[in-house]
Amino acid sequence: MQKFNKSSSLKSFLFEEKNKNTSIGFVPTMGSLHQGHLSLVRKSKLENDITIVSIYVNPSQFNDKSDFINYPNNIKEDEQLLKQVNCDILFFPETKDMYKEGFKEIKLDIGNLNLILESNKRPGHFQGVLFIVHKLFKIIMPNKTYFGEKDYQQLLVIKRLTNRYFKQIEVISCETVRDSDGLALSSRNKKLSKNEIIIAKKVFKVLIYAREILLKKTVKESKQYVDDFFSQNEEITLDYYEIIDESSFSLVNSINNKKLYRLMIAFKIGKIRLIDNLSIKL
Ligand code: PAJ
Repeated sequence: MQKFNKSSSLKSFLFEEKNKNTSIGFVPTMGSLHQGHLSLVRKSKLENDITIVSIYVNPSQFNDKSDFINYPNNIKEDEQLLKQVNCDILFFPETKDMYKEGFKEIKLDIGNLNLILESNKRPGHFQGVLFIVHKLFKIIMPNKTYFGEKDYQQLLVIKRLTNRYFKQIEVISCETVRDSDGLALSSRNKKLSKNEIIIAKKVFKVLIYAREILLKKTVKESKQYVDDFFSQNEEITLDYYEIIDESSFSLVNSINNKKLYRLMIAFKIGKIRLIDNLSIKL
């Protein structure tokens, strides 16, 4: 695996490769890698000549300073994992390189995506994500880029970004990887105690049952069930539980069988905030 920490040297390397018509797959990450990230790398390896993974904990997308400071960092382990899946290139840039010209707002109309759920709870978060992904895309200009459904709203925001600024880049969405109990893998899980992990796993079961209620009964009853669970467990707090219409990314109060919907949840265990989602399709 080749390593680059300067965007200029990565760019010159890729310039040569592109002249040879090499196809490039790109997986942006913030490190502390797990099998969810690696599933994206594996997919990219199957579909491209060269796979690049970036690891950069991007400060501007953290609306909560302590979340940024406490974000896990395991670069040595990450390198080992990337070698195991035969990643070709690791891009590991520094802040002085990424923010050489300061922070610039990316002008992009993302409609509802900018108003609800993560946008509402984490002001400025997607502007930070857009800034860094835009920067990374400009450096790498991949043929395909891989994003997880785990961060569903982010995936849609990135699709808007490529649609507006990088039409040549194809965004490949990848299914959420879960552990054997259904808990969505997340770098932040590493910060949870054993007991907190048990609680996080319960939330997935709650989400599955909330989907059953939604399919058999109403949005209201499904929400009531989730609210009841959270009010009975004082170690966790619910940030939101909502049902969205996938085509318009709008919140709904009822569902019909003509459209696709997704259950979206965010909650906190102690100081750790986790998100998850589930398609209504069984
Ligand atoms: P990070 O949280 O490290 O996630 C990197 C990629 O891995 C994202 O596309 C995310 O959706 C995907 N991913 C995380 N957990 C997953 C799981 N359990 N199953 C499948 N995919 C999973 O998302 C970011 O970093 C950052 O916002 C970034 C896009 C790198 C910009 O800084």
